[in-house]
Amino acid sequence: MTIAATQTLPGQAWNELADVELLETWPPLERLPGVEVLVAVVATVGERELALLPDVRLVANYGVGYDTVDVEACRARGVAVTNTPGVLDAAVADLTLALILACRRRIVTADRFVRGGGWRSGWAQPELLGRDLTGSTLGLVGYGRIGTAVARRAEAFDMHVVFHRRSAGLPLDELLGKADVVSLHVPLTDETRGLVSRERLALLRDGSTLVNTARGAIVDQDALVEELVAGRISAGLDVFVDEPHVPEPLLALPNVVLTPHLGSATIETRAAMTRVLVDNVLAFRRGDPLLTPVG
Ligand code: DGY
Repeated sequence: MTIAATQTLPGQAWNELADVELLETWPPLERLPGVEVLVAVVATVGERELALLPDVRLVANYGVGYDTVDVEACRARGVAVTNTPGVLDAAVADLTLALILACRRRIVTADRFVRGGGWRSGWAQPELLGRDLTGSTLGLVGYGRIGTAVARRAEAFDMHVVFHRRSAGLPLDELLGKADVVSLHVPLTDETRGLVSRERLALLRDGSTLVNTARGAIVDQDALVEELVAGRISAGLDVFVDEPHVPEPLLALPNVVLTPHLGSATIETRAAMTRVLVDNVLAFRRGDPLLTPVG
């Protein structure tokens, strides 16, 4: 069975896949007949790419979010798709709390203040005053595995947690107007693209914080930039509409903490994701049911 990968993966499990062809470019520059399995790492897979892999039967996506894979196009060609759910919830939840703390306690601004030689006396700089997590309200948009993992952590910080999901919790607009911190934990789908629209961003309370470790396109990014430039809210952003492009106006703002899609970026979690992906490929090779199929 020929396996091609857009990137090699970390962790021991990767070594269990013998003879993986590492693709030099994605999409490939020419048709690659014979490739049956594609290991896709942050790779767009649509009609055009599938046409270049005429024999592919499995697209194994590295990551829980598979919005870069056109699952319908795969289905139409008889191509299965898998993802890596369940093993990265804690890592993403940890990063979410890190961004909440960084924004509410102004950690990045304070770090720049120290490094820039601004700390000349005492510890009472009024410009570095943050906001308590204790007693503040966290609004979770999405309350699945990652959202609930964030809720558990936030409760340990004595935050009051409210949530919105399709079938339960607060209506989204009510949550946005009530929370001190809003954190997004929904997948990017046709339904959630632009969910936090310009109008909805305007519902956020003055001085509140928006944290996004899900997908950039869930938010109207242009409207978010305008809100942040105006300084009305702060934000912790790990994801963007067109990664790795980060809107230029954000780079100079003190009320934004920026990270480069680090949600699952720990040694343990990335190895666990590799394990799930490899187990799917091995199951496919044996003709067994896939462990984590999507679509
Ligand atoms: C995922 O798995 O979709 C995450 O965004 C990776 O950090």
